[in-house]
Amino acid sequence: MTDQTRKKSPEPDAEAVQSLGAIPDPRSGYPKPLRQPLHPEITEELIEQLVRSFYTKVRADSDLGPVFAREIGEDWEPHLSKMFDFWSSVTRMTGRYRGKPTAVHHRLTGVEPEHFLRWLTLFRETARTLCAPEVAAIFIDRAERIGESLQLAMFFDPANPGRILPLRETPA
Ligand code: HEM
Repeated sequence: MTDQTRKKSPEPDAEAVQSLGAIPDPRSGYPKPLRQPLHPEITEELIEQLVRSFYTKVRADSDLGPVFAREIGEDWEPHLSKMFDFWSSVTRMTGRYRGKPTAVHHRLTGVEPEHFLRWLTLFRETARTLCAPEVAAIFIDRAERIGESLQLAMFFDPANPGRILPLRETPA
């Protein structure tokens, strides 16, 4: 195909692009994909409520509480605010979280795959209490996927693959 015969895309219509609420890319004029929350009901307020309520349960839990107490100590606000950023990035695409969860979990001591099951049980319980069912399903799906990848990074051993526990309530 020569340059003459190649079909050119039509010129973008700036007004149409903007009427979609999209921001035109300055070079091409075409809309850039919008970074939108995964669900309109997922607000920063909901995330803060979910995170605070979840970690209140974690702190009181006889399996998880001691692990967190050892790492975090008394002042939970820095951890909570990191987790607001994390969930805001995961579900609202804000890009606010810039940490490295795999490295952080890798250096934790005294954590076993069973801790992931307990973590997810409390997380599901909290999400289902505070969110509409389809919103809770989004948080839970993301937590299960991230949990799976953290668990693999921490515990995968080709000589003992059974050490990895399935974390999804509904297998993918
Ligand atoms: C689905 C499961 C999980 C998710 C999505 C998750 C996510 C995260 C994230 C994003 C952080 C912040 C990392 C940073 O500092 O940038 C964090 C920190 C932490 N996580 Fe997890 N986590 C999960 C499971 C667990 C489990 C099972 C444990 C252990 C029982 C655990 C213990 C911790 C601790 C102690 C910290 C704080 C480390 C520190 O600040 O020194 N996490 N987690």
